[in-house]
Amino acid sequence: MYGMVNKAVEDMVSSMHGEAMWEKVKERAGVDVDVFISNEGYPDEMTYQLVGAASELSGTPPAQILEAFGEHWVLKTAREGYGELLDAGGKSLPEFLVNLPDFHARVSMIFSKLQPPRFKVSDITEHSVRLHYFTQRAGLAPFVIGLVKGLGKMFQTPVKSVTLIGSRDQGADHDLFLIEW
Ligand code: HEM
Repeated sequence: MYGMVNKAVEDMVSSMHGEAMWEKVKERAGVDVDVFISNEGYPDEMTYQLVGAASELSGTPPAQILEAFGEHWVLKTAREGYGELLDAGGKSLPEFLVNLPDFHARVSMIFSKLQPPRFKVSDITEHSVRLHYFTQRAGLAPFVIGLVKGLGKMFQTPVKSVTLIGSRDQGADHDLFLIEW
C-alpha cells in the first residue's frame, strides 16, 4: 500500500501514545524505515505487521485498532491532507455512501498504482443502506466500520450501527454491512 497509509498509522500511534511508543511498534514489527514516503509503494505485509505490533504492545485487539484507524483516516488523514477529494464525495452521509463506489477512481488520479477496494450500495432507505465491500486483502472489515463511523462524525450524522451481515469469513465472496443512522 502507499506510504501514506503507514504514515497515518504512525500519526495515530504517536498522537495517542507518543513518539517513543511508535519507535517500539516499528521495532517489534521489524520495520526499519525512518520516514514513509506518501506516494511510494510498500508491501501490504508491513502495514499488517505494524498493526499487529501496536496490538501486542497495547493489549488491544487488532480489530479495535483497525476501527480506530478508520476514524482517524477520515477525520485526520483525509481531512487534513485530501480535503478537496473528501468534499467531492458528497454533502451528507447518505450521499457520500451512495457515491462511495466511485470515490477511489478519483483517488487513483493522484495515486496511479492504487489497488483500491470496490464498493456497491443497495437497499437504500431514508436511514439505512447496505454497503458491499470487495477486496483482495484480508481482515480489513473493522477498518471499514471505523471509516463509516468517521464519516458519520464528519457529517454530524451519528451512525447508530454498522453490522456485518455477510462475511468472507463465512464463505461469501465479499463483506456486507448494514449501516443505520
Ligand atoms: C480522501 C480520502 C481517501 C484517500 C486519499 C484514500 C486513499 C487510499 C489509499 C492510498 C489506500 C491504500 C491502497 C493502496 O495503496 O493500494 C486506500 C485503501 C482503502 N480505502 Fe481509501 N482513501 C480515502 C477515503 C476512503 C473512504 C472514505 C473509504 C470508505 C468508507 C475508504 C476505504 C478504503 C479501504 C477499505 C481501503 C483498504 C484497501 C482494501 O480494502 O483493499 N477510503 N485508500
